[in-house]
Amino acid sequence: MGFCKFNRRRTKSSSSEVDPSFQLTILFLTGLFCGFSYSAYFYSAYMSPLGNASKVQKAPNESLSRLVHKALDLNGSIIEQLFYEMQTQRNQKLFEEVRILCWVCTSANTANRSVHVKATWGRRCNKIIFISEEEDDFLPTIKVDARPGREGLWAKTVHAFNYIFDNYINDYDWFLKADDDSYVLVDNLRKLLLPYDPNDPDYFGFHFKTIVPRGYMSGGAGYALSREAVKRLVTRAFAGEITKCPNQTADGSEDADLGRCLDYAEVYPGDSRDEKGHFRFYPFVAENYVHPDLSEREWWYWYFIKWPHKGGADCCSKHPITFHYMTPHHLYMMEHLVYNQVMFSVTDVMAAENPGPDNIEQAEQVAKKITVGSTTTTPSATSLTEALVQSTKQPKS
Ligand SMILES: *[C@@H]1O[C@H](CO)[C@@H](O)[C@H](O)[C@H]1NC(C)=O
Ligand SMILES: *[C@@H]1O[C@H](CO)[C@@H](O)[C@H](O)[C@H]1NC(C)=O
Ligand SMILES: *[C@@H]1O[C@H](CO)[C@@H](O)[C@H](O)[C@H]1NC(C)=O
Ligand SMILES: *[C@@H]1O[C@H](CO)[C@@H](O)[C@H](O)[C@H]1NC(C)=O
Ligand SMILES: *[C@@H]1O[C@H](CO)[C@@H](O)[C@H](O)[C@H]1NC(C)=O
Repeated sequence: MGFCKFNRRRTKSSSSEVDPSFQLTILFLTGLFCGFSYSAYFYSAYMSPLGNASKVQKAPNESLSRLVHKALDLNGSIIEQLFYEMQTQRNQKLFEEVRILCWVCTSANTANRSVHVKATWGRRCNKIIFISEEEDDFLPTIKVDARPGREGLWAKTVHAFNYIFDNYINDYDWFLKADDDSYVLVDNLRKLLLPYDPNDPDYFGFHFKTIVPRGYMSGGAGYALSREAVKRLVTRAFAGEITKCPNQTADGSEDADLGRCLDYAEVYPGDSRDEKGHFRFYPFVAENYVHPDLSEREWWYWYFIKWPHKGGADCCSKHPITFHYMTPHHLYMMEHLVYNQVMFSVTDVMAAENPGPDNIEQAEQVAKKITVGSTTTTPSATSLTEALVQSTKQPKS
């Protein structure tokens, strides 16, 4: 059901290219430069100037190779600058087109974590508000009538959506709930939401299949509601029958209660998995997913999840949106990994020869194959090219 939703594209987004001639020019210049650079690089690396086939494995004294490499390194900055310009334009448009209000559920005891949320991923929301049972002038918080701890979560949720409905419903398109120990890749959230119309009743997150007939979204992984979903939640569910949607005095699971209320308001769970079927919202830290041995973890979790998954190299989406149970240290580490460093190469040639493990047995096999100190793990020029060709022909599934 959910995958069909990908096709429900807005006509609006087709008008998003404001400056096509500029982008085309940049694209053309980049293509020209990259094309030339790469042919020069491969030529210098694998061919002798005289075309002596026996020298394919090693450039003659590497002089030409080094020269081109040096020039590329220096002027890699030109390519980077062009890409930077393009990405900046694209992100700016996305920021204006998919307007996200983030509301962060915090409390007196954990408000000190919220400071780090605000200083890291919170900067990328179009608007961020903190909901707490206590006033905090520094963040600041919006003080609501709720108990601290788990029993107060539903009250905070009800008050938050009422507050959003009263103050911000027409100023933003999507409304994301996150915790003060969440990390959110806000740009990836915008990418997910771009094709959807905020005037449709939509609701995305990490899908649990229990309790509510169509399931509900994990509270820990965070969830995004469209403008229409919030309208229906407040005007239909909160104003409706108490047996269908409990009022703020209820102290059960806040995420299941929200699922019930949304179901009653005819807002149903959307499918936020990527094209490979990987999740994008995660109810735990990334460590719980990337380790190849997941068998002993989160026993209850396996019975709740709507879509099964495995751990290891192929665990996760390349465009994740949220992680949970993140310490302030995690938040800054994520910022660093995501925004402050990039790989020199985006293709993982070594991985094409030695794919990362999906479970513990494979981890042992992979480890056994890598002979420490031997040269067998360094692909020769020929196998390197083969690996490149193969990895473009048959992407790993
Ligand atoms: C090609 O290289 C081989 C070995 O290095 C050499 O014997 C041969 O003379 C070279 N041929 C030419 C045309 O340079
Ligand atoms: C490469 O060139 C340098 C000087 O440019 C020279 O000292 C060196 O001996 C050369 N190496 C080989 C293997 O020809
Ligand atoms: C490469 O480009 C940068 C500007 O992006 C420039 O500052 C630098 O001088 C160029 N280097 C060479 C060797 O042309
Ligand atoms: C935040 O405050 C709580 C209680 O006030 C304290 O236990 C905790 O250590 C603090 N955390 C940080 C990161 O300062
Ligand atoms: C909330 O609902 C309970 C029934 O579940 C009811 O007894 C109570 O009066 C309601 N409180 C408010 C403030 O509406």
